[in-house]
Amino acid sequence: MSVAPEDREIIARLAKERDAVILAHYYCLPEIHDVADFVGDSLGLSQEAARSSAKVIVFCGVHFMAETASILCPEKTVLLANADAGCPMADMVAPEDLEKRKAESPGVPVLTYVNSSAKVKALSDICCTSANVTAVLRSLPSQKVLMTPDRNLALYAQSLVPEKEVLLWPGFCPTHHRLNLLEIQELKRSHPLAEVIAHPECQPKILNEAHFIGSTSGLIKRCAQSDKDEFIILTESGVIYPLSKAHPDKKFYQPKTAMICPNMKKNRVSDIILALKNLEPVIKVPEEIRLPALRAVERMLAIPRDQ
Ligand code: 13P
Ligand code: SF4
Repeated sequence: MSVAPEDREIIARLAKERDAVILAHYYCLPEIHDVADFVGDSLGLSQEAARSSAKVIVFCGVHFMAETASILCPEKTVLLANADAGCPMADMVAPEDLEKRKAESPGVPVLTYVNSSAKVKALSDICCTSANVTAVLRSLPSQKVLMTPDRNLALYAQSLVPEKEVLLWPGFCPTHHRLNLLEIQELKRSHPLAEVIAHPECQPKILNEAHFIGSTSGLIKRCAQSDKDEFIILTESGVIYPLSKAHPDKKFYQPKTAMICPNMKKNRVSDIILALKNLEPVIKVPEEIRLPALRAVERMLAIPRDQ
C-alpha cells in the first residue's frame, strides 16, 4: 500500500517539530519502509539509534528493539509505534529461568541474542545479533558458552565455531521455525538456477539446503553481490520489498508457507502519526536493569559484524 501524500506531510512536519527519527526493521510493511529515515537489521538499528542526534526515536519493529534503543540512549524518548508488537522468541526466556540455569552452570558465560528482554540482557555477559554471532562467540575466552534464547541460531553458530561447546536454550522464532523441508526442496526443483539464501533462525535441516546464510542485511547484500538472477528467500517476507526495488531485473521466490511475522506487521503509518502526536507509547528501561544490560550490549557493539 502506498502512503497517502497528506500522511507523508504530517509525518515530516511532526518529525521535525519533535526532532524525531523513524527507525524501521526490514520485516515491517512496505509503507513503513517508505516513511522511515532508516531501515535496517537489528544490529544496524541499534547502531543507528546510538548514532542519531534526534531527541525522539520512533521505533517500527518489536518491543525488544525499542528496549535496546532505550538501553543505548537513555536521554532520548524512545517510542514503539505499536505497543502490542512483541517477539514470541524473546518471551521464551524468562529472567527467573535464566537465573536458575546460570546457577546450574557456574562460570559459563551467557551469550544472549538481542531478541530478548532487557531483564534477560541484564543477566547476560554479552549480546549478539544474527550479523555478528560467530565473531561474538569466538571472542569469548571460555570454551563453554550458554546461548539464549534461539536454539537454531545457537546450532548454526556452533557449526561454524566447533572449538566452542555451545549449551542450548529451547527458544525459536515461530515464523522461521515452521518452514517445511519438503516444500523447500520442491521450490529448489522448480527453480534450479536460484540461489537459496536463509536467515539463521531457520532450523538446521533448512539451513542445509541454503547456499548462503545471513542476517537480514547480510541477505540483502548477498542479492546485490551475487551474479545469480534468481533467489529463494528463506526469511520474513518484508525483505522482498527492498530487494524488488533495488533489483527489478532479479526474481525472488518464497515458500508458500507464509513467512510473515505478525508482530512486525502490526506497525502502521497511523501508529507513527499517533506516536509523534502524543509522544507515546514510551519504552523506558529502568536504570537498575539498563546499566547491566548496557554492559552486555556495548560488549557486543565493540565486535565487528560478520557480514
Ligand atoms: P536481523 O537481526 O537479521 O535483522 O533479524 C531480526 C529478527 O527478528 C529476525 O527474526
Ligand atoms: Fe521475533 Fe521471529 Fe518476529 Fe523476528 S521474525 S521479531 S524473531 S517472531
